[in-house]
This record gives sequence, C-alpha cells and structure tokens, in this order.
Amino acid sequence: MVKVDIKHCAVPKPLMEEYLDKAEQAYDVLMEGTGAGAENRGWINLPSSTLDSDILDQCYNVVQRWSKNIDVVVVIGIGASYLGAKSIINVLTHTFDMQLGKYRPQIIYAGHNLSEIYLAEVLELIKERSVAALVISKSGMTTEPAIAFRVIRRHIEDRYGKEEARQRIVTITDAHKGALKTMSEEEGYTSLVVPDSVGGRYSIFTPVGLLPLALSGHDVVDFVEGARDMEKLCRIKDRTNPSMIYAAARNALYSMGKKIEIMTNYNPKFVYFSEWWKQLFGESEGKEGKGLFPASVTNTTDLHSMGQYIQDGERLMFETILRIKHSNRRIEIQPDSANLDNLNYLVGKTIGDCNLLAEAGAMLAHNEGGVPSIVVEIHNVTEYNMGALYYFFEFACAISAYMLGVNPFDQLGVESYKRNMFSLLGKPGYEADHERLLSNL
Ligand code: PA5
Repeated sequence: MVKVDIKHCAVPKPLMEEYLDKAEQAYDVLMEGTGAGAENRGWINLPSSTLDSDILDQCYNVVQRWSKNIDVVVVIGIGASYLGAKSIINVLTHTFDMQLGKYRPQIIYAGHNLSEIYLAEVLELIKERSVAALVISKSGMTTEPAIAFRVIRRHIEDRYGKEEARQRIVTITDAHKGALKTMSEEEGYTSLVVPDSVGGRYSIFTPVGLLPLALSGHDVVDFVEGARDMEKLCRIKDRTNPSMIYAAARNALYSMGKKIEIMTNYNPKFVYFSEWWKQLFGESEGKEGKGLFPASVTNTTDLHSMGQYIQDGERLMFETILRIKHSNRRIEIQPDSANLDNLNYLVGKTIGDCNLLAEAGAMLAHNEGGVPSIVVEIHNVTEYNMGALYYFFEFACAISAYMLGVNPFDQLGVESYKRNMFSLLGKPGYEADHERLLSNL
C-alpha cells in the first residue's frame, strides 16, 4: 500500500489542520458529484468493478491473438493515451529487455510527437519484424497519433494486405464517436472502449493501460487488485486517508508560496512514471492562472545536475519523494583488500541501502536549504503496489484540484496550440487565423 509521510514538509500544524479540513470538503465535492466536471468521475470505481467485468477478457483475447506471431506492437497515442502504459511497463520491465530479447512482443511507441526522425526510425525497426499496431485515442481525433497511424497502417497494409491488417490492428477509443471509431467500424478492426465518464489522464485502469500492460506480459490482475485496495482506502473520509494527507500538504505548501512540486525518484525505471504524474497534475490543476508546476528529477543522477539548483537556487519548490522502501534485487558491496577506491567503509551494505541513505541525506540537505519534502512510499515494486500508487495519485489529484477551485477533468488550455497548428497546417474550418499567424512568425 501507499504511505504518506509529512514529517519533513515544514507545514505548521494549524495550517495543516486547516488544509485537512479543506481536503475533507473537496472529498465531499468529489464523492457527491457537486463539482465541475462531475460527469467525468467514472474512474473512481474502475478498480473495484474491473475484475468482475469482461474488460480483462477483451485484453487477453488480443494478447492471445498476437502472442504467436507478433514481434513488435507499436502503441500509438499521445498524452494519457500512452503515458500510463509506457510508465507502468517501464517500471515493471527489465531495463535492457530490447537488448536481451527477453520479452515478446516488444512494445514501442509512436504518435506521441511529430518528429519525422523518430517515425522514420520506428519504420526502420519494424520493417523486418512481424508488427501489430494498437491505436489509442479517446477522442479519436488527435492529430499526432492520427498521422502516425496513417503511416503505420499503410506499412502494415502494404506488407500483409488489408485482410491480415485487420488482425494486426486494434483500436481503443470512444464507444460512439470520433474518426478512429468510424474507421474501426469501416475497416473491421477490433475496438475496445474508453468509457464516456473516464477522461484520458484517469484512464490507466481501462484498456488504455491494461491492454498494453497485458501485452507486455505483466500481471494485470495484481495491478488492478492493488488499485482496488487503494480505492477502498481512498474512499474512507478521515485524516488517515493518504490521498487527503498528500492533497492537503501540497496545497498548504502552495499557500506558503511554493510554486513548484518536484517529483523526486531514485530509480531510473520511474522516469516515465514522473512523466505520467506531471501530465496528471499539470493538466488537472494548471488553469485559471493557478496550480503548482509539476517538475521531476531522477536521483542520484540529477543530484549531479539539478541538485545544485534545488539546494541553492530560487526557493520556489518542494519535493515529493517517491520512496521504494525495499529493492527487489540485492547487490552487496564486498571487501577489497587493496581498498584503492576507499570504499571498504561500505562493506556489507547493499546498493539499495546506499540509495536510501543518499535519499535521506539529500532530503535533509534540501530541507535545511529551504526545500521541504513530502514522502510517498511503497514497499517494493510489484504490479500490486504500482496499481495502488497510480490510483493514489489519481484520487489525490482530483481532491487537490477541487481544493484549488478548478475542474480536475478538463484541459481547455491545450486547445490554443491545436487551433494555431490546425490553422497553419491548413485544416478545413481553421482558415480564419491563417494569415495573421503567418505574419506573426
Ligand atoms: O488527459 C487527457 O485527456 C489528454 O492528455 C489526452 O490524453 C491527450 O490529449 C490525447 O487525447 P486522445 O486520447 O483523445 O487522443
């Protein structure tokens, strides 16, 4: 399960009490559906309902279909339509799986950028491997994945023909609308559904996260069970609820002038977890001129770069340390009679011990330098604990956004770039601003 420790968060007790009261009010807004965007709360009971639904069977059917003959699955999506999947797969999968050829099918990603170089390299990688595509877009209208899908669909159809392409392409999208839905129907692709009431960044416990996770060979049931047990905990309205403690502490710190929250992890497998977390909080809270700016570092690597700024630069930030209490692996430092590297003082310690002590040392140094910390802890890296961790942050984020007074479930801000991009690309219906934008370039 997930524990939250606020001992080092430097929020005075009365202020923390005040913010815990606010968290309780926000909890009521969320659970009673009286806040903005209440129609998007379908994610709340996903973990407790998924195991009794046919969602896992739908995922296993695709896994089975592709298990024999597919080498590479290209997951095409952007934002929440790839970050949940990529982050959990990275955490659970061997760092060098590609080099070891350990897992099959291998999962790669496309449609999360418009880099021509990246897509050309994807095409080079797949050209001599047996390939399938999993296209994920809730709206079914997002430009980046749509472009990547057009290119990869052409590749698949040219290589295997239209008939076989139907076996090699699966989509996940809205049940009723969008270009991807229409195309899935016209072309006869298997299509799984993102429920209407679940927004993109709260969708990891739908096929959006579960199908890629199942394809990568990890235990989806354990993942959902961890989330289900966390759901039970988060639904309890009292001050032991870790999601309320976290939401209260970060909002209290914001009220004390902290503008940046740094997700600080000590394990490179969590780099994309931090990206998922940034997207969740950034899109949910950054609106109406408000919201903590979510940033991230991966230590101890970044203690040798951003560590300087965190210790000594502008005093704008606090850290949320993601602590993995126990490493699943063990490498003990052995004695060396010559001790030329002067490391014999570490004999008997594991690398995991060193990592935790580095974390403790950096935390205390940062605290002294005016950077408070909240610690979010899981026991070790398992599907179960990760399911709990994702759900914990989703629930905390919704409460936190309501505490801030914003709608946790919309993202109107991203429409501005889309309008400009469509206008510059010449999309029909966006002609009006074309000349003005060009003259401003
Ligand atoms: O959280 C969100 O809703 C967004 O970040 C979306 O995931 C992102 O814009 C992609 O949208 P779609 O899944 O509709 O292609």
